[in-house]
Amino acid sequence: MTESALSSASNALMQKLTGRQLFDRIGRPTRIVAPMVDQSELAWRILSRRYGATLAYTPMLHAKLFATSKKYREDNWSSIDGSSVDRPLIVQFCANDPEYLLAAARLVEDKCDAVDLNLGCPQGIAKKGHYGSFLMEEWDLIHNLINNLHKNLKVPVTAKIRIFDDREKSLNYAKMVLDAGAQFLTVHGRVREQKGQKTGLANWETIKYLRDNLPKETVFFANGNILYPEDITRCMEHIGADAVMSAEGNLYNPGVFNVGQTKDKDKVFPRVDKIIREYFQIVKECQESKASKTAMKSHFFKILRPFLPHHTDIRSTLATMNAKATWEEWEEQIVKPVEIVVQVIFEQPDIEIKDEIIIGEKQSWGGSYRTVPYWRCQPYFRPVNGITGDKRVMQGLTDADINKKRKADMPLESADKKKDIKA
Ligand SMILES: Cc1cc2nc3c(=O)[nH]c(=O)nc-3n(C[C@H](O)[C@H](O)[C@H](O)COP(=O)(O)O)c2cc1C
Repeated sequence: MTESALSSASNALMQKLTGRQLFDRIGRPTRIVAPMVDQSELAWRILSRRYGATLAYTPMLHAKLFATSKKYREDNWSSIDGSSVDRPLIVQFCANDPEYLLAAARLVEDKCDAVDLNLGCPQGIAKKGHYGSFLMEEWDLIHNLINNLHKNLKVPVTAKIRIFDDREKSLNYAKMVLDAGAQFLTVHGRVREQKGQKTGLANWETIKYLRDNLPKETVFFANGNILYPEDITRCMEHIGADAVMSAEGNLYNPGVFNVGQTKDKDKVFPRVDKIIREYFQIVKECQESKASKTAMKSHFFKILRPFLPHHTDIRSTLATMNAKATWEEWEEQIVKPVEIVVQVIFEQPDIEIKDEIIIGEKQSWGGSYRTVPYWRCQPYFRPVNGITGDKRVMQGLTDADINKKRKADMPLESADKKKDIKA
């Protein structure tokens, strides 16, 4: 390194915010949209913030491609990303080369509050590309990746890790990441092998062990097992985390972050017709963001997950849509038909009873499942020990509640007929 490079690096370090200072500066956020490939793009972040998220991460971006390919940048980053409507924001990269990582991070350092290193991706593509959780054994490389940003980037560097089976190893790993210069640490409480069908539950006890044994001033985020807003509060209290991050909980129900609104079901379990209209509007307003339009179909499928089995005609149409479809086609073929169906549902005389949210018994994991009508957003439960989510929800209910749910789930012929007439 030349003398002038050395002195600019030491200047950068002197002016740099520590984790606590940064956390205070961005308003001590407690509810975080997780980094999600093809899913935590601009429009989704804007929607999630409206429903209570107080910090968001971009999807993981590939540092080398971001640094070297104009097309990749144009596909993944727009002039609205990181603007005032999109803050606070952390941009996440995957990388295995400190210089490419720094080059990529410099391109966004004026458009974000921090840059995060992905150390958790367990997918085959990460194995092939040698990044994410496949760096977990290469501590020197991880140290270099983080430390180079810590010394040379204007904004702080942060990191998101998975755990090892061994608690002590997880703790030493987290310490190394912090020693390298990471200012926020997010701990996803699953090991690398917990993915796909084997995802299972995150281990809050290991997350808590790390929190308890790391320096008090560490800004610490917990990640995993969030189904409802109440789980966010429970997680923060149990672990002593500064904030809680959610990925799947947020994707299937943006209302999961509405912690202060638990009595308002429209905020916590938004109606699918209202939320797709609102989200569709945001995507249209963010036309410059290519990633937002590309991701829309997948978001529609997730928001509408409980609804589509009851309205298979809409499901079939949605399956045929693609990013090339015009705004009018999306409006006429998906957004309006959903609105018409839900409007008819709400014209039923007994809708107040059918629209009830039923809270089940307290479960061994500390929270309770809710039974939510299919026209409202709700979490998707992965199978745990071979038992599917729907069965787990039913286990906590009385017979009367189950009958009520069955009645609410009955196909609404009149709604389909009315839609045929209007469409
Ligand atoms: C669709 C999807 C995409 C994801 N992409 C990323 C990513 O880009 N970077 C990352 O660090 N983790 C990624 N993850 C992992 C999540 O950030 C999170 O750590 C994990 O899903 C556990 O949180 P959850 O239990 O709230 O889902 C992704 C998860 C999902 C479901």
